[in-house]
Amino acid sequence: MRVNHSGEVCAQALYQGQALTARLPEVRREMEAAADEEMDHLAWCEARLRELDDHPSYLNPLWYGLSFGLGATAGAISDRLSLGFVAATEQQVCKHLDSHLARLPEQDTASRAVVAQMLEDEARHAHTALDAGGIPFPAPVRGLMSLVSRVMTETSYRL
Ligand SMILES: [Fe+2]
Ligand SMILES: [Fe+2]
Repeated sequence: MRVNHSGEVCAQALYQGQALTARLPEVRREMEAAADEEMDHLAWCEARLRELDDHPSYLNPLWYGLSFGLGATAGAISDRLSLGFVAATEQQVCKHLDSHLARLPEQDTASRAVVAQMLEDEARHAHTALDAGGIPFPAPVRGLMSLVSRVMTETSYRL
């Protein structure tokens, strides 16, 4: 759950960074709806983490800074690149949530409910970003993102 929480911190940063540099107002509007849901996700993860008596990752400020920078840079280059980045990121998040759901104990219904709802929302965010004109990222780029996400997952799990 700490990893999920860190992921949502990154989502906040990514969408905020993007909103800062997005050129087309439609892109901004599309992404604002997704960003609103990310706020809910962050709140759910934080609440569940507290219930489990655990602390958020100490690396969150670092993840926030990096994600904000990436979002703002992608947005500054082009709206389509930035939407493509959202789509690729959300797909990555879906993969992680999917595997987490498979590992979560059946009796932890509270955590399962949070993860299942997020999985549904993130899949929709990915579709929305592609429909809005996001460039689908090539496999090597997605592979690299996968690698980065694995490092982030491992370190947030521990710290
Ligand atoms: Fe999210
Ligand atoms: Fe999302």
